[in-house]
Amino acid sequence: MKQMSLQGRSVLGLSDFSESEIERILEMAGQMKSILSSGHKKTDLLRGKSVVNLFSEASTRTRSSFELAGKYLGADVINITKSGSSMTKGESMRDTLLTLSAMGTDAIVIRDSSEGAAFFAKQTSSPWVKVPVVLNAGDGAHAHPSQALLDLFTVRQAGKKIRGMKYVILGDILHSRVARSDIVGFTALGAEVHLCGPRTLVPRELESMGAVVDSSLEEALQGAGAVNVLRIQLERAAGGFFPTLREYSRLFGLTEERLALAEKDAVVLHPGPMNRGIEISYDTAYNRQSMIQEEVRNGVAVRMALLYLTLTGGGDLENCH
Ligand code: CP
Repeated sequence: MKQMSLQGRSVLGLSDFSESEIERILEMAGQMKSILSSGHKKTDLLRGKSVVNLFSEASTRTRSSFELAGKYLGADVINITKSGSSMTKGESMRDTLLTLSAMGTDAIVIRDSSEGAAFFAKQTSSPWVKVPVVLNAGDGAHAHPSQALLDLFTVRQAGKKIRGMKYVILGDILHSRVARSDIVGFTALGAEVHLCGPRTLVPRELESMGAVVDSSLEEALQGAGAVNVLRIQLERAAGGFFPTLREYSRLFGLTEERLALAEKDAVVLHPGPMNRGIEISYDTAYNRQSMIQEEVRNGVAVRMALLYLTLTGGGDLENCH
């Protein structure tokens, strides 16, 4: 059977993708994970392609994993941060994008603190230059599609069935692009997404995306198949939305005792970086149900799948070394 092609598609948000397209990416991520586990990670599937990571906001996981993903596939990858670029001399984002595109770049992976930055990048053009495939690595509080894909992949790899699952997102949802992309992705694949946190950090309008807002943490955790604990984004002044961090931890921190309300084998996720001891207890972060490091591992496979599918369409992976 002919596989659907995502060649040339930008990945700005998961709402642009159908359920079967999301499944195609997850299936390819599975194949990429097999390559990563084979002991010989380097392939030439993207030989001759070039990828630019343009990150104007801090990142450890997303930037490193996109870089490794490109390199494992044989692409040339460069990293640009705002502080090391001519943006510090006043060059605009538009001119930066056109400059990078004029060099013949095949994909631009972009992280920015502004909502819509990836959409802006994709729409940028001049009479001489067209911006290539754009992959959104997180734009403000709007979207983080590759994170949602790796969350889906991780939950499934942990043996959980997504359709019909109660998927709980706990914490600072207001500032979270992961929450918004997870709502789209998990809902598309048939999960029931529940949101919980201080009222000030859980926007009611997210119910219009199909999520359920729970008023008590106990109610949210009851019967959950997976719990994604979000970081209190102190750099976005989230600390001003509740009295004290101690109070937050007491009322909303995920502990072993609270996790026991969920399914026996419920999966614990956290996109990282963690404020351990605040939104999640030390014991819970490192217990057997915690897939937090597995999310990081899977992030490489998922980003390999995204680069491979969008830059080539995704052909036969046999004899790829
Ligand atoms: N999950 C995530 O986006 O982490 P980084 O900010 O380290 O990339």
